[in-house]
Amino acid sequence: MSRIAYVNGRYLPHAGASVHVEDRGYQFADGVYEVCEVKRGALVDERLHVERLQRSLHELRMRMPMSPAALGVVLRETVRRNRVRDGIVYLQVTRGVARRDHAFPAAETLPGLVVTARGLDVARNERQAAEGIAVITVPDNRWDRVDIKTIALLPNVLAKQAAREQGAKEAWFVDAAGLVTEGSSTNAWIVTMDGTVVTRPAERGILRGITRTVLLDVIAAQGLLLDERPFSVEEAHRAREAFVTSASQIVMPVVRIDGQPIGNGHPGTVATSLRQAFHGHAEIS
Ligand code: PDD
Repeated sequence: MSRIAYVNGRYLPHAGASVHVEDRGYQFADGVYEVCEVKRGALVDERLHVERLQRSLHELRMRMPMSPAALGVVLRETVRRNRVRDGIVYLQVTRGVARRDHAFPAAETLPGLVVTARGLDVARNERQAAEGIAVITVPDNRWDRVDIKTIALLPNVLAKQAAREQGAKEAWFVDAAGLVTEGSSTNAWIVTMDGTVVTRPAERGILRGITRTVLLDVIAAQGLLLDERPFSVEEAHRAREAFVTSASQIVMPVVRIDGQPIGNGHPGTVATSLRQAFHGHAEIS
């Protein structure tokens, strides 16, 4: 099946789909993005993703390329044309095409919009969730506006590559105080020995993950204790469970951190039950 990408108003064959060489996303990483889960052909938490997109754009003084309703049509059409049943839809908005100059281009410059969609192997993800993943820790060397979902992801790219090279699936960033901020493309969580779920507050140092936001509802519904506070790498090593969340991983148990097993070295009951309950609390449209 040939894949299709939406590029600035047109649905194009994916293999040849391209943007201008002076797109500011390409030259300056001057853009933002979202990744939304697709489940049985429907979008998961579209409203929250579009709200976060609008916030990211606002923080960078960029315009929405179209209304949320029109964007919803493009997202669904891209999913449909790619025949994605279970997977992800990716959207990227940049400050548009202009002669290379660091300062903003003329106000009338149109923002660029690219949307792609692809299937994920559900069975493979489930097998991975049943096994759990390994993470490594790396110093957090990102800028201090990681609350904005920008396409400037070089530290995240290097962190993920370091994880791969060490046989792990994710890298957790650690701040100067030794506290875990988040993963290179996920939010980070632990479950303490007394069963309290702990994750860093979203006010500073992390992206406010949509999966994280929805999972807070699941945690409340399950009557679990929650403590939104930073935790250290040492505390994570002593935890009963650890896991990560993102639109593509949902809740993914972590069974090793820097080579050390967490809990009994297998996915924990809390992470597993949160994963199972997640879609019952998400908005699927
Ligand atoms: N990553 N933190 C970072 C740095 C992320 O890049 C992401 C998402 C998350 C989780 O956010 P959400 O639950 O809204 O997916 C946290 C996406 C999936 C990616 O870059 O592919």
